[in-house]
Amino acid sequence: MVDSGRLWRRIFELGEIGRQEVGGVTRLSFTEEERAVKDRVASYMEEANLSVREDAVGNLVGRREGRNPDAPVVLVGSHLDSVYNGGGFDGPLGVLAGVEVAHTLEKAGVETDHPVEVVAFTDEEGARFSFGMIGSRALAGRLTPEDLTHEDENGVSIAEAMRGYGLNPERVGEAARPQGSVAAYVELHIEQGRILENEGLAVGVVTGIAAPVWRDFVLTGGTGHAGTTPMGLRHDPLAAAAEVMGIVEAEAAGTGTSVGTVGRLSLRPGGINIIPGRVEFSLDLRDIDEEVRDRVEERILERAEEVCHRRGVGMETELLQRMAPASCSEMVRGAVEEACRAIGVRPYALASGAAHDAMQLVDLCPMGMAFVASRDGVSHSPDEWSSKEDCEAGAEVLYRVILDLAKGA
Ligand code: HGY
Ligand code: MN
Ligand code: MN
Repeated sequence: MVDSGRLWRRIFELGEIGRQEVGGVTRLSFTEEERAVKDRVASYMEEANLSVREDAVGNLVGRREGRNPDAPVVLVGSHLDSVYNGGGFDGPLGVLAGVEVAHTLEKAGVETDHPVEVVAFTDEEGARFSFGMIGSRALAGRLTPEDLTHEDENGVSIAEAMRGYGLNPERVGEAARPQGSVAAYVELHIEQGRILENEGLAVGVVTGIAAPVWRDFVLTGGTGHAGTTPMGLRHDPLAAAAEVMGIVEAEAAGTGTSVGTVGRLSLRPGGINIIPGRVEFSLDLRDIDEEVRDRVEERILERAEEVCHRRGVGMETELLQRMAPASCSEMVRGAVEEACRAIGVRPYALASGAAHDAMQLVDLCPMGMAFVASRDGVSHSPDEWSSKEDCEAGAEVLYRVILDLAKGA
């Protein structure tokens, strides 16, 4: 049995790091908050007798040896960074449950065949640079030097932020794990949706992970006087942006499976009596089916161009990131289903609308996930919550899955 009291206590200890006056936690990559939370988790890993290190991209790794040090490692983890004013479970639950698994194996004196490593990936959310999963991409050998040119809102690139954090961006390739070196990757995460709660289930078995396309749009028109510019003579980029946002909503809703979100919006100059001259907004578009998603993206771009042409507004758009949906491995899914049955939870399969580090490892090793129910499906919000009992059930499932995968033949 994992020590669910310690798990629960630690979730709230981490929740104090990066806590915001207005609510929630903000822990962006390569900041002091991320440094503090990794140092705290490193201390938990040491308490579990793990050998602790950070790799070339800042992933925090705690290793427990197995009988065969050369056997492929069983990897378990998640992330510790957050979105702005995020909740305390998104990421930390998976890392802390992974530490609990290792601690429980150690306490029980269980000798596994494979080594087990608990990993806290750098920058899963992409909140700072609008480009996420830096740590899991690097571990999977997918991070490119061009990726490190993405900049935050202050014009600081990922590479510069890494240098400021004591890392050498030229060496991120050293974080890549060779093919065959990882036996499996398993992640426990909150569902961030309502399905498990509606089913009355604590834990769910993830089948696959939907993937986001992120874009930035800049619309430009002529700044003008709000009082003297007739409506018919305006080239108002904000009015155009409003029309485009309606198109995002309609096109995404139209497929029945896609989701489209404009989460960030800014305009200049921003005076009450000035017609805006420049509007910038983001697009987050997702579907579990890549073709469906990309067709929606094409339609949005076509229709946005048409709106801006008709209104005499300039439009530029930049692709920030394009991920591919990923299917969980049958082998790991089977282990998660088995573990659910073992603790008396009906195995319930569901897809993930949220993106996760696990999807970056899909070509490196068999990967899979287990979800813990979210209250009202709320996440990326200070109101994010999962019950102690459901977190305990999730950690118990994770323990059994890791034991199953690591004990070997
Ligand atoms: O955006 C996501 O789906 C995840 O929370 N990074
Ligand atoms: Mn997450
Ligand atoms: Mn998240």
